Amino acid sequence: MVAAVQKNPSHLHYFATFLWEYTIISSDLCPTTGKNRHGIPNMNLTRLVYYSQRNPSLSLKMPELMETCHRNNSAMNVTGILHYNGNAFLQVLEGGRAEVSSIYHRIAADPRHINIILIHCSDVRERMFPTWSMGLHEGMDEKTKNIFLRYFASNIVNPETVSQESLLDVLQDLSAELG
Ligand SMILES: Cc1cc2nc3c(=O)[nH]c(=O)nc-3n(C[C@H](O)[C@H](O)[C@H](O)COP(=O)(O)O)c2cc1C
Repeated sequence: MVAAVQKNPSHLHYFATFLWEYTIISSDLCPTTGKNRHGIPNMNLTRLVYYSQRNPSLSLKMPELMETCHRNNSAMNVTGILHYNGNAFLQVLEGGRAEVSSIYHRIAADPRHINIILIHCSDVRERMFPTWSMGLHEGMDEKTKNIFLRYFASNIVNPETVSQESLLDVLQDLSAELG
């Protein structure tokens, strides 16, 4: 490769152009549009959805957790929503493929939750939850139960057994409550 580049300067030019474009595309992405400051769209916007249960043996301070989410997710232009009903978590992460992957691996290794089930992960054209570095919806009041009843036969839902589309519908309606 090095020999080829030295013999033919056009290879070097091609490689430098690729590096330059890659740097531009991956830098400073706007969390809403997914475009960088040059207006170039991020080609690999990804959405990941998982479900997990709180580890009852470990203490969990939600304000502390949310502070970590805001700090790390903002730095990586990752946005999303976390629903916590006191027992289980349902979280959506949206952002660059590498960034979402890196944050998810960290989350999956966190002993404060267990039985982590990956529900969905795919490239998407736009963010569903562009507003928050991580919006938190907590609790299961009557309003929340009614939102679940809009999409499911019962408000007691096992996220492992239902479609990710319906779960995303629920999360979008819950996010509307956050304003
Ligand atoms: C349910 C749950 C959701 C979490 N969500 C995020 C998240 O969105 N972003 C994040 O950086 N860390 C999240 N964490 C925390 C990570 O597991 C990990 O503790 C954190 O990323 C470590 O960051 P630090 O090295 O900056 O302290 C979450 C943890 C749990 C239990």
